[in-house]
Amino acid sequence: MSTTVTLIPGDGIGPSIADATVRIITAAGAQVDWDTQVAGIAGVSRWGDPMPDATLDSIKRTRIALKGPLETPVGEGFRSVNVALRKTFDLYANVRPARTIIPGGRFTDVDIVLVRENTEGLYIGNEHYIRIGDDPRAAAESIALITRHGSERIVRYAFEYALANGRKKVTLVHKANILKYSQGLFLDTGRMVAREYEGRVQFEDRIIDAMAMHLVMRPEQFDVVVTTNLFGDILSDEISGLVGGLGMTPGANIGVNAAIFEAVHGTAPDIVGKGIANPGALLLAACMMLDHIGQSDVATRVRGAFERTVKSGTMLTRDLGGTSSTDEFTDAVIAALA
Ligand code: NAI
Repeated sequence: MSTTVTLIPGDGIGPSIADATVRIITAAGAQVDWDTQVAGIAGVSRWGDPMPDATLDSIKRTRIALKGPLETPVGEGFRSVNVALRKTFDLYANVRPARTIIPGGRFTDVDIVLVRENTEGLYIGNEHYIRIGDDPRAAAESIALITRHGSERIVRYAFEYALANGRKKVTLVHKANILKYSQGLFLDTGRMVAREYEGRVQFEDRIIDAMAMHLVMRPEQFDVVVTTNLFGDILSDEISGLVGGLGMTPGANIGVNAAIFEAVHGTAPDIVGKGIANPGALLLAACMMLDHIGQSDVATRVRGAFERTVKSGTMLTRDLGGTSSTDEFTDAVIAALA
């Protein structure tokens, strides 16, 4: 049975990698009806809004979107696209799997799924300046909000993800030794949730600074990692770096009412129109989407073809050290479909 999915090709290299992604997963047998919508600069051109109501309405209907990178126009009156999406659909879990695909890099056997809390912490945007004497900006204060509800649902998501994907261990990352209230609440709640999974999924906790070091010393020891918003932001880029950079890293934003899948990289303005963008990250995001809508067999076929193509080393885009165009790479992945 076919599933309707909102497709937002995006800006810059977005339309070209979205086109490549759709071609590949269609060739692999994906049963998807695309409801194509615009956002970002394309949204401004068409509707005067980077996050048009028509696009939000489409996601409300389909509850699933595949999104290319978007440029948020700088200037007053423009809504941040990512913030609008996160708020409208309460996308509380940001999930980023990172796995070594290209052999011979600095790290081999990396296979980590980072689960980042996406709605709380320092990102609630509650900050202000403090006047001291005649200096109105003598100090600044930001509030990091952690709730038991937010902590519980993100840690539970990490454990449920581990169970559903045959993963063995969840590592909770925190700074509860210093931030005893906010990070302490996250750790305590995490430990409570972990007890429900005892005997099924292992649990450990690490302090953020030690975690940053362990990740570059022995990344192969980590499996599913769950953490608060700011730590997750930093660790997810660190983990992407362990497996060859942002061009190979997909991301999913999961909420109760919707799920939005995207490449982690941006619009790559420096290579727009050159036909050399790597569609890999968006393609892997589409595979996460296929898993989500119950088409894991297609996702497995696509991942296999993508990995075989990349590992063969003969047909690589420039960011991976090759000379192939987006179209040549796409054709090679399609040819490699089992
Ligand atoms: P970027 O990720 O677009 O580019 C960084 C570097 O990586 C560039 O040299 C680019 O050519 C290269 N690159 C990125 N993706 C590639 C791909 N698929 N294939 C080959 N090379 C690739 O980051 P930058 O330049 O900081 O941001 C550009 C724009 O993208 C900005 O407007 C930013 O706001 C937006 N952006 C949007 C995101 C989203 O919608 N999720 C995420 C990050 C940035």
